[in-house]
Amino acid sequence: MRILVTGGTGLVGTQVVNRLTKRGDAVLVLSRSEKAREKLPPGATLIVGDPTQEGPWLDEIPACDGVIHLAGESIAAGRWTAEFKKRVLDSRVLSTSLIAEKLAGQPMRADGSPKAFISASAIGYYGSFTANATEFIESDLPGSGFLADVCVQWERSTEAARLAGVRVAIIRVGVVLAADGGALPKLLVPFKMFVGGPVGGGRQWMSWIHVDDLAGLFLHALDHAEASGPINGTAPEPLTNWGFGKTLGGVLSRPSWFPTPAIGLRILLGEMAELATKGQRVIPSQAKALGYDFQYPLLEKALRHLLNKKLPGSDS
Ligand SMILES: NC(=O)c1ccc[n+]([C@@H]2O[C@H](COP(=O)([O-])OP(=O)(O)OC[C@H]3O[C@@H](n4cnc5c(N)ncnc54)[C@H](OP(=O)(O)O)[C@@H]3O)[C@@H](O)[C@H]2O)c1
Repeated sequence: MRILVTGGTGLVGTQVVNRLTKRGDAVLVLSRSEKAREKLPPGATLIVGDPTQEGPWLDEIPACDGVIHLAGESIAAGRWTAEFKKRVLDSRVLSTSLIAEKLAGQPMRADGSPKAFISASAIGYYGSFTANATEFIESDLPGSGFLADVCVQWERSTEAARLAGVRVAIIRVGVVLAADGGALPKLLVPFKMFVGGPVGGGRQWMSWIHVDDLAGLFLHALDHAEASGPINGTAPEPLTNWGFGKTLGGVLSRPSWFPTPAIGLRILLGEMAELATKGQRVIPSQAKALGYDFQYPLLEKALRHLLNKKLPGSDS
C-alpha cells in the first residue's frame, strides 16, 4: 500500500512508519522540517510541508491508499495560554479538514475499495476527572473542558472524508508509554529520587498504552475493512494514579508512597497540571471487538519491557 503519515517524526509516528516500511508499504512522511530526512528508515520518503496549510503535499494524497494522521502540537509543550490553546486546536482541526477534503475528492482505491483515513484523537474526549470510576467506551458522549472540546472538533473535521465514502477510523489515544519520550520519562523522575507516589490524591484514572501496542493498533485499523468510527487506543487494564505508582515503584524497587499535592503542580504548571492530576477510565471495547491482540495488556509487563527490568528467571 502507499500511505501518507503525518506526525511520522513523533513518538507514535516513528513506530508506525517503522512498521509500515518493514512490511514493505510505500510510506510518505509529511514533516515541517527538512531535517526529518536524516531519521527516516529505508522505504520512507520525506514530503516537506505544513499539515495545517494548503500546499503541494496535498497533491500526494490522491495516489495514496490511506492516510495515518498523527500531527498536532503537543499539549505538554507549553503553559496553556489562550495562544497555546489555539495552536493545539488549529494544528489538529486545520490539518484534519485539509486531509479529509482531499481524500473526499478521490475516496476509492484503484481496486474500487474505500481509502482509509486513520486519524488520532485522544481520550480527553470523555472529559478529565480527579475521581470518577465510570468506565468509558467509544459510544459514550463527550465530556467538557478544553481537551474534550479539542477532541470533538478534531474528530468532526474528518466528516468530509466519511461522507464521501472513505473509511474513517479515529483512534482515541491514551497515555502513551515509551522508553524515550512521552509521559514515562517524566513519571520516572520522582521514583528514581525515592520520592515517587500518588499525585494529587491518586484517585484519578490513568488509561495508558504501550507505544508498540498503539502503533500496532493504527496498522490494525488501516488493514481491517471493518475498522471504522472511534476506537479507544488504551490497554485493557487502566489503573488509578495510585495503582500506577505502586506498580512503577515495584518495577523500579523504589518506594511509592510519597504524595505530590495537586496545589504544587497547579502553581508550577497552571491549567496544564490537569494532565497529571486528572484522568479518565477508558476501556478499549472496539479494539477487543476487532480482535486486536495486545502485546502488553498489563502495566507491569509494559513497564518491565520499557525500563528493561526483567523479572528474575523470565524472558519478559
Ligand atoms: N503521546 C501521548 O501520550 C498522546 C496522548 C493522547 C493523544 N495523543 C495524540 O497522538 C498523536 C501522536 O502523538 P505523539 O506523542 O506521537 O506526538 P508528538 O511526538 O508530539 O509528534 C507529533 C508530530 O506532529 C507534528 N507537529 C507538532 N506540532 C505541530 C504543529 N503546531 N503543526 C503541525 N504539526 C505539528 C510534528 O511533526 P513535524 O515537526 O515533523 O512536522 C510532530 O512530530 C498526536 O496527535 C497526539 O495529540 C498522544
